[in-house]
Amino acid sequence: MKIEGKHYRSVWVDEDGWSVRIFDQTRLPWALEILRLTDEEQVAHAIRSMQVRGAPLIGAVAAYGVALALREDASTERLETVCAMLAETRPTAINLRWAIERMLAALRNQPPARRVAAAYAEAKAIADDDAETCRRIGEHGLPLIEQAAARKAAGEVVNVLTHCNAGWLATVDYGTALSPIYQAHDAGIPVHVWVDETRPRNQGAALTAFELGRHGVPHTVVADNAGGHLMQHGQVDLVIVGTDRVTRTGDVANKIGTYLKALAARDNGVPFWVAMPHSTLDMRVRDGIAEIPIEERAGEEVTELTGRNEAGEIVRVRVAAEGSPAANPAFDVTPARLVTGLITERGRCDASEAGLLSLYPEKG
Ligand code: MRU
Repeated sequence: MKIEGKHYRSVWVDEDGWSVRIFDQTRLPWALEILRLTDEEQVAHAIRSMQVRGAPLIGAVAAYGVALALREDASTERLETVCAMLAETRPTAINLRWAIERMLAALRNQPPARRVAAAYAEAKAIADDDAETCRRIGEHGLPLIEQAAARKAAGEVVNVLTHCNAGWLATVDYGTALSPIYQAHDAGIPVHVWVDETRPRNQGAALTAFELGRHGVPHTVVADNAGGHLMQHGQVDLVIVGTDRVTRTGDVANKIGTYLKALAARDNGVPFWVAMPHSTLDMRVRDGIAEIPIEERAGEEVTELTGRNEAGEIVRVRVAAEGSPAANPAFDVTPARLVTGLITERGRCDASEAGLLSLYPEKG
């Protein structure tokens, strides 16, 4: 993303060469604040509190967390302990475990004296890999928007609906679901995005709308419940969402509410595409509903809202009746049968074991 003319990733190593910088996503869209992380506890806090969030980004930030921890003590015991701690910071997105396993594989056999440099190099490789993967997802998703545009009368806009935030802020760069949209917009295709607000934390209204606005992409924030109505009235050409974990059989875990959008899309004949980087594929799991752990977050995220008051302060207000408890499952699973296809860095495929193996034969 461009900020004051400079391109930023959503995580980077500071000019000091060792501390790690992120944007505090709990302050967006009201304030663009950069945080400096200096140890693994700060990294763990940033992930748990969702100062950083989005499946690929938490993996990359956790990888840097390992590097920060090893600066103090690069022993094998420390490496194992820190990796175990960071892997537990959030349960649903497999990217976090993927990144930690990659760090362990790169570092276990290194002599401790070489581990810090190797850890920074591997964390950078993970971040670079994610940025390039997301750029390619954009390339492979772009034809879907081009085809939708070709079916329209000249000058008519292509309407894409998205849920949560699967953009630049959720990844190291470009985004997954938003990457094709950015590429379409940059190519001059008239594209408009329906942005689900994405209660309870409002990643759509706060983050996706912020990103799209900064990039100049026309968009409209809608209540989560509006999608079905828009589809019934021909106002959605396709849905593109991100994902936190895709199973061997093509089931898709993503932000709570994604499943309902897939149901509405199926009922209305609207294509429902899922943008998936390789780091999100979990071939060890077959049945997403039975096997993917769904994060349960604090009830206050449901009973309260965050906003900015007239004094410019970021405040929380209660919207639920006093005393009523709340449940807060943060993700749901969309069965593969409701998914039109997956957009990956290697091309598009069916959401099925055969489809996935056609693109990732080495994962068989
Ligand atoms: O709880 P969050 O904000 O981390 O959830 C994020 C999502 O559900 C995204 O859609 C998903 O991580 C894909 S990000 C490219």
